[in-house]
Amino acid sequence: MMRQGHNMPPVYAQSLELLQRAERAIPAQTQTFSKGWTQYPRGAAPVFAVRAEGGHLWDADGNEYIDWPMALGPLLLGHNHPAVNLAVRRQLDDGIAFSLPTKGELELAERLIEWFPYAERARFGKNGSDATSGAVRAARAATGRDIVLCCGYHGWQDWFIGTTTRNAGVPRAVRELTIAFPYNDADRLAQLLEQHRGAVAAIIMEPMGLIEPKSGYLEQVRALATAHGAILIFDECWTGFRIHRQGAFGKFGVAPDLACFGKALGNGVPISVIVGRAAVMEVFNEIFFSFTFGGDMLGIAAAGAVLDVLQREPVLEDVAAIGSQLVAGIQKLITTHELGDHISVAGYSARHFILFRNDGADGLLLKSVFQQEALRGGILAAGWHAPSWAHNGDDVDRTLAVYDQVFSRLRSWISQGRLADALKGDRVLPVFRAP
Ligand SMILES: Cc1ncc(COP(=O)(O)O)c(C=O)c1O
Repeated sequence: MMRQGHNMPPVYAQSLELLQRAERAIPAQTQTFSKGWTQYPRGAAPVFAVRAEGGHLWDADGNEYIDWPMALGPLLLGHNHPAVNLAVRRQLDDGIAFSLPTKGELELAERLIEWFPYAERARFGKNGSDATSGAVRAARAATGRDIVLCCGYHGWQDWFIGTTTRNAGVPRAVRELTIAFPYNDADRLAQLLEQHRGAVAAIIMEPMGLIEPKSGYLEQVRALATAHGAILIFDECWTGFRIHRQGAFGKFGVAPDLACFGKALGNGVPISVIVGRAAVMEVFNEIFFSFTFGGDMLGIAAAGAVLDVLQREPVLEDVAAIGSQLVAGIQKLITTHELGDHISVAGYSARHFILFRNDGADGLLLKSVFQQEALRGGILAAGWHAPSWAHNGDDVDRTLAVYDQVFSRLRSWISQGRLADALKGDRVLPVFRAP
């Protein structure tokens, strides 16, 4: 049963007990930083989940939440979508791992080549990082060059994570080969390409993060990549199947040489893919991109079911509608509660963030209090929303009703200078911290 209002404070006792056990069993107590206890106000938030259905999640104490992070994006159709579950169950009956390549992987590759007009070949992985790292290796092999220019987040592997503050364990020699560039700044990219003329293997970027590309920006990037002989890789782990059925190409009309998809492709069943031009993809004949679970049939079966649903149903339109209602509703609440100096919304309907600032520190105090209070109202509040096809108008109404109460409290606590007192749990921490 979802809690009504804030009369009955939720209990997180089981979660906190499990967290103590996890401290003795699992470093960082999570497999994925963005899901772990540092991202919620510890002590005043759930830590472990046990079940999910549609757009809802249940924690270890039996508390129910409207789930907006949706496992960091993969669940475009919602938890336990019947068509995906059926495809996976059928596959279980036929076997899931084989000693030979499968007809299923060929059929999915052919389908994806059809799906993305610029794609002529496809190779599968399990995580988004498999795809981005495979694409980067392919680009280096195809060009005979080492330098990679990147923009966005691209996963856990050395070549990318060396550019972040979580770069411990990445050799300096590797770190020096990848250079991050700012989004929507073609001049800076041109400058970097000039500075490393003849040495840049790949430009890998999220074609859109939270803001839209400036008019002509992606075209400029495309032209610069071509002029400098660098492979243009779109990392569409988020944008793929979310901004448009054909990702950035569908929305902006710019074709990369290679593109990487993960997350939503399997609706929660792990699968990723690299698609692209034959001339570049043929290098996969030579490089080593080969692992035991490449072509795992649960992911392939799930992806087939996802594509079926996307072909049949107005999924993206419905998700955009839900997301737009959320964004508009939050913006209205920010105005109503006069929180414009402290809270804003960034992103697009199918993926957006609530941003916090001016809390006397770095915004994380205000964010933590927001999370704590929204969690009390039954919203799995991570500070951002990845709406799914399983969410409905009731979820939006309920969320906005809770946010209304939460924003009202935030307003008075800010005015009274009592934010720090209001926080009952620990302050949340950024995943990427200054070393
Ligand atoms: C844009 C982007 N690329 C790559 C990745 C890495 O995917 P994974 O975590 O599945 O390895 C992510 C993960 O969040 C992502 O958002």
